[in-house]
Amino acid sequence: MKEIKIESTLTVFENLEELPTDIVALMDQAAVARRNSYSPYSNFSVGAAILLDNNEIVLGSNQENASYPSGLCAERTAIYYAGSQYPDARILKMAIIAGSRIHQTITPIPPCGACRQAIAEYEVKQDSPIEIYFMGEAGKVVKSHSLANLLPLVFDKSVL
Ligand code: THU
Repeated sequence: MKEIKIESTLTVFENLEELPTDIVALMDQAAVARRNSYSPYSNFSVGAAILLDNNEIVLGSNQENASYPSGLCAERTAIYYAGSQYPDARILKMAIIAGSRIHQTITPIPPCGACRQAIAEYEVKQDSPIEIYFMGEAGKVVKSHSLANLLPLVFDKSVL
């Protein structure tokens, strides 16, 4: 028997101003996407912006449904759009901004487990890391240089 230790390194920025201008611009686009969130059930709106290597920016927001599980998170809305519209483009970065319409959200909101799995698929597909930046409506911004950092022991095609 042996124990294994799994470590991840993330970078925490105090606020958006500490980030390079291209990331601020991508986060601004995520905020624009968030305005189109359809979230009447949770009152929690999320926006995601993805930068591709062809310089296209793809947006997504969470889309809810009266049949709750039929809704989809912002990150998957965006990444599936990217995968379906630009199948040959490399996904470079994703910015995510999220918050409640009922109370203030100033803690960084990471992508849920299902979204991590979906993003991981594209990292494996393109064999290069996707940078992830996430935040609440304001305050700290967390950067992960790769999705793999957020999803240790990933299930991927290598086991199929
Ligand atoms: N949501 C996202 O869009 N992304 C996540 O990573 C976490 C959750 C959405 C789903 C649902 O519409 C609302 O936030 C509350 O769970």
